[in-house]
Amino acid sequence: MTVLQNTTIFADGRLSKADIAFDEKIRAIGASLSGDEKLDGSGKLVLPGAIDVHVHARDLNQSYKEDWRSLGRAAVAGGVTTAFAMPNTDPPLDTVEIVREYRRRASAAPVNAFIYGGITRENIAQLVSLANEVDGFKLYLGETTGNLVIRNKSLHRSIFKTVAQTKRVLAVHAQRDGAPAIVTQHESDDIGYVLDLADAYGTKLHLVHVTTRRGTEKILEAKHSKLDVTFEICPHYLFFTDRDRKERGAWLKINPPLATEEDREFLWWALRENLIDIVATDHAPHTVAEKSLSYERAPAGVPGVEYMPVLLLDAVNNKKLSLDQLVAVCSVNPARRFGLAKGELSIGLDADLVVVDMNVEKRITREMVRSKCGWSPYEGMRLRGWPVMVFVGGRLVHGAEIGTDDRASR
Ligand code: DOR
Ligand code: ZN
Repeated sequence: MTVLQNTTIFADGRLSKADIAFDEKIRAIGASLSGDEKLDGSGKLVLPGAIDVHVHARDLNQSYKEDWRSLGRAAVAGGVTTAFAMPNTDPPLDTVEIVREYRRRASAAPVNAFIYGGITRENIAQLVSLANEVDGFKLYLGETTGNLVIRNKSLHRSIFKTVAQTKRVLAVHAQRDGAPAIVTQHESDDIGYVLDLADAYGTKLHLVHVTTRRGTEKILEAKHSKLDVTFEICPHYLFFTDRDRKERGAWLKINPPLATEEDREFLWWALRENLIDIVATDHAPHTVAEKSLSYERAPAGVPGVEYMPVLLLDAVNNKKLSLDQLVAVCSVNPARRFGLAKGELSIGLDADLVVVDMNVEKRITREMVRSKCGWSPYEGMRLRGWPVMVFVGGRLVHGAEIGTDDRASR
């Protein structure tokens, strides 16, 4: 049993001074706890690990961009202890065999790994058996890396119907393809189309990477009429807009594209009003060489898993967000949506713990990036509030003590 002593714990929506004792699960929270390994937590804050429900871990034939080990190291360094990987890999995760191979590779990573099954024209009849191997399904209605887009409306209906039978969450990329301004403008229509399908078939729906005010409002209306829907926003839509894309070109080419300043401000407002279910990164690693191509030729996507909790911890320090709101969108809500025994500091839950020093300040540089892609859209930003020790299932996976706090350990 490990005991973090004299620390500040964030549990039940508030901060309190306590010790926390754990092996693979959280065993006790209270004063003067005993255990065989004692760590000093004074001056630090303990939070539940973040659960990122949207990463692209690549690996397989694209392990030059990222693999499970590099993804895992990047994730835990930033305080993400659980990652849900998308199926648009090469080859795609659309059969039992490939999902098993992907899970085997994921077991080498220091992060808890969950996997979405891919949906293709060919595997709809097999989704029920694939459901036993995956933690959710992902459907692409618009352009993505890989080849998983389905545009046929009658196929959409059979997919929503079949996935409803499996009781799994269906994560949907609803936004159409096209010029950035068009995609942004039509987001709420595209979301409306998907909400109607979920309503018709009773599918558990999760809308990924929502970028606009109107798109969000459409989902909030559907929630109001009791549809089983959740949605995520991503850090890059909180920090960048279409203006940044015009300045930085291919580096900020993302699907769906960065929206307007008004949308960005709305997303911050909605976070503070507790209207956002989940913040997830859509961590989409592409190499420096690939992102140096022209806007037309470069692949879409930016990495993000390494800095999500840190960007939000800095926002907490700057009073743009409360700690309660951070923990809700990063941990509590994603755990509830996917039925995980995680996401809160409660006795009996998995010991995925992030020990944070709210006073550590660092500037993000290209040199410190752990993701294999080797760059970050947040380079140059100075952020306050960083993880100093991270535990996954009670095991220390990041922290100065085990020498993973610098680049030399990559
Ligand atoms: O920008 C994106 N990149 N959007 C997606 O939908 C896919 C992702 C990727 O896999 O690179
Ligand atoms: Zn994605």
